[in-house]
Amino acid sequence: MERIFLGLTGASGHLYAERLVRALVAAGRGVELCATGAGRKVLRHELGVELPPPPFESRPRALRAWLGDEVAEAVRLYAEDAVEAPASSGTAGVRAVVLCPCSMGTLARVSVGFSSNLVERAADVALKERRCLILVPRETPLSAIHLENQLRLVRMGAVVLPAAPGFYHRPSSVADLVDHVVGKILDTLGIEHDVGARWTGELEPPHEAGIERPAATPSAAPETTKEGVKR
Ligand SMILES: Cc1cc2nc3c(=O)[nH]c(=O)nc-3n(C[C@H](O)[C@H](O)[C@H](O)COP(=O)(O)O)c2cc1C
Repeated sequence: MERIFLGLTGASGHLYAERLVRALVAAGRGVELCATGAGRKVLRHELGVELPPPPFESRPRALRAWLGDEVAEAVRLYAEDAVEAPASSGTAGVRAVVLCPCSMGTLARVSVGFSSNLVERAADVALKERRCLILVPRETPLSAIHLENQLRLVRMGAVVLPAAPGFYHRPSSVADLVDHVVGKILDTLGIEHDVGARWTGELEPPHEAGIERPAATPSAAPETTKEGVKR
């Protein structure tokens, strides 16, 4: 079974990661999962999922409770310091590495080859083996440091895919927004999927169930008078 490494870091956006795991398993892929310490904290905060601290078994009860038995069966969970994990070596043949969500801290360390944990090492291996590496940052606004680190990674062949969903598919729920980003990650991985709506090339697409036009909202633009701007 083809395996994809998914690193969860301390950035916001763990809903993207959960959707991605489910979509990868639905597409017949195995997932090598590893969360940083900060990643586990934000995962607990955002999704209420408590992954036990390392060292832990590869399929703890918490993983099965979170994802369900069927999905968890295709997922192997590793401790952050598990340098012996397959993804630590280029010979293991992990096909691609996705860091989602990706903190600016992890992104910075990956950009300079500072492999201080399994997540960073897996990304380092993907770069040296010229395999697919996708980083999904959520941070905004971005400092010059953040931008320079991202530019360095893109120049090395990585894909920086910000968690920035579009609105042209007329999302009607948070799930639609999440799917838009996850669909792009799957496209970049070259994995066939039906996650998220695809652009049809029509500016007024036919109404589709679940993709509704948002209700008209009054303009938020400030009113301008001779005296100046008033709200
Ligand atoms: C609720 C929460 C949300 C956070 N969101 C972000 C974020 O979106 N991007 C980011 O770079 N850091 C974010 N942070 C800060 C990181 O967790 C922090 O920099 C951490 O050291 C990153 O560690 P890691 O790279 O080892 O996962 C957030 C922290 C918390 C508690």
